Amino acid sequence: MATLKIIAGTVYGNAQHVAEQVEEHLASKGVDVELESDPSVDDFTGADAILVITSTTGQGDIPPNLEFVFSDLKDDAPSLEGKPFAVAALGDSSYGESFCGAGKQFHALLSELQGNPVADMLEVDAIETLEPEKDVVEWVGGISDKLVG
Ligand SMILES: Cc1cc2nc3c(=O)[nH]c(=O)nc-3n(C[C@H](O)[C@H](O)[C@H](O)COP(=O)(O)O)c2cc1C
Repeated sequence: MATLKIIAGTVYGNAQHVAEQVEEHLASKGVDVELESDPSVDDFTGADAILVITSTTGQGDIPPNLEFVFSDLKDDAPSLEGKPFAVAALGDSSYGESFCGAGKQFHALLSELQGNPVADMLEVDAIETLEPEKDVVEWVGGISDKLVG
């Protein structure tokens, strides 16, 4: 079965927690899933499918644990042609224009590298939900067949 790599970008642990819940949920459904919080470019190129779950920091910025791999992906520009991917972004709409900025940057970059987006980016607003893991697990349940089917 195809391996789904979950890439978690987090500052304070929310997105990490969400990613762990998603991993648990998918594993219980028999999906071959690996969670990575310190990824390299190889994690992206070697995966059969990619799920990025990331918060946003600063003003629309990528969390420090994904900063290096983001710039390495930009510099190396490996082909992810046809590779299914999806992005779930945790953010806070009170940040206005920079709402979910890190997720948007990842979605744009993986698209540029010719990945295949199986869904629109999910935006999870901290103002609207106290349980982001619920929203993300439910959303992933609806697209997991497209990621690893
Ligand atoms: C210093 C700081 C800056 C933030 N900047 C943004 C931002 O620019 N855009 C956004 O949508 N959310 C922003 N947020 C909200 C976080 O992305 C949100 O609270 C998220 O749930 C944090 O998840 P984490 O614990 O995985 O980092 C910011 C939060 C903090 C504390």
